Amino acid sequence: MSKRITVVGTGYVGLVAAIGFADFGNQVIGVDIDKEKVDKLNAGISPIYEHGINDYLNRNLKSKRLRFSSDIASSIIESEVIFIGVGTPPKDNGDVDLSQVENVINEISKNLNDYKVIVTKSTVPVGTNKWIKEYIKEKTNSDNFDVVSNPEFLREGKAITDFFHPDRVIIGYESEKSKEILKDVYRSLYLVETPFVWCNYETAELIKYANNAFLATKITFINQIANLSETIGADVNEVAKALGMDGRINSKFLHAGPGYGGSCFPKDTKALVQIGAKYDVNMSLVKEVINSNELQKIRMVKKLKNILGDLNDRCIAILGLAFKSETDDMRESPAISIINELIKNNCKIKVHDPKALNNAKKLFGDKIIYCEYSLEAVKDADALMLVTEWNEYRNLNLNNIAKLIKQKIIIDTRNMLPATKVKELGFIYEGVGRK
Ligand code: UDX
Repeated sequence: MSKRITVVGTGYVGLVAAIGFADFGNQVIGVDIDKEKVDKLNAGISPIYEHGINDYLNRNLKSKRLRFSSDIASSIIESEVIFIGVGTPPKDNGDVDLSQVENVINEISKNLNDYKVIVTKSTVPVGTNKWIKEYIKEKTNSDNFDVVSNPEFLREGKAITDFFHPDRVIIGYESEKSKEILKDVYRSLYLVETPFVWCNYETAELIKYANNAFLATKITFINQIANLSETIGADVNEVAKALGMDGRINSKFLHAGPGYGGSCFPKDTKALVQIGAKYDVNMSLVKEVINSNELQKIRMVKKLKNILGDLNDRCIAILGLAFKSETDDMRESPAISIINELIKNNCKIKVHDPKALNNAKKLFGDKIIYCEYSLEAVKDADALMLVTEWNEYRNLNLNNIAKLIKQKIIIDTRNMLPATKVKELGFIYEGVGRK
């Protein structure tokens, strides 16, 4: 049976969930305090760049299964299931800031007119769902509600596909009634036999952190092996390929590069360390992953220094600013650390990215030069550094670059270009983990 759902928060997690649940046949209201955003969404314009999102948004708006509102109270009153998809950003000390979640559960407490299931989709520290349950119970003096933990695993750029084809769905729950309701909400996935993991709150909460920390560790591991490969003359691509052939390891997330970024891995690894500290459990491995990832970003600038010597007054072209391709998101992007390090070294920096230039302008203002075209960035540069693996950079016109660039130097932090061909054109070329 379809459900009446409110999803609070229309960021990556909340918006995709609202659209996805509507597409499953549920009646969904997406709530956000940002009125301008709500108006745009109701007009069928997505505030985020995500492959396929506008089609799905418009299709569900048209069918009247989906609408957006900034009136949280009436949305809660109308709904049986409330998903919390607001931000849980890190505080300066690495703790998670739960103030947005607290605002939502205060609203829910004030508007608990009938039985409701409150589902946490945002990534929250272990213990939060239990706390939410106690909090609402205390505020309302009622237990006519259930709390469910349902962490989200979607990747930016592939969010829509990931939502409709998850490897599995994790549900931390306490009551059978809430389990049956969640089955209804996810009926479409249930019918296609997507695996569901039913567990307690703490397990569900930890799965999310463990999952992201494991992937961050896998990337950091291959980055360290890449750094060793450079020194001993091995090729990390071949090492990774062979490792991936071992079914116990699997080939995914073994691409060496400039370090991981994004809104999840950096935040969630730090949060896991904090959770360990809170319960006095050793999380030294994850701590080391965080340190090593920071060093990896700076190592890309060291590669430049090794070739150019002094970086003072050099002009460096950076191609790619987003933390990965197919997104305009620059949160924790390796490009930020790289650019900051270059600025510290008094470099002139020209940047290009097919989607992230506007976000870069917010971060760097007039400290760097923004270019519409990649070749514009490359013109008269002392070196070119590729930072994001956009497809268009795979087909760069190397002959034109050779003519425009001042010094034929390429640092390819994503191992995207054909090394032999680049060198044949007279470039000094350095990738990651390859001689
Ligand atoms: C990640 C998780 O994959 C997702 O399950 C979770 O919900 C949110 O965090 P996302 O941040 O969108 O998703 O990006 P992802 O594609 O996982 O990449 C994360 C970072 O790791 C990027 O900076 C990417 O460039 C880097 N990466 C990824 C590597 O350096 N090497 C790899 O092999 C894979």
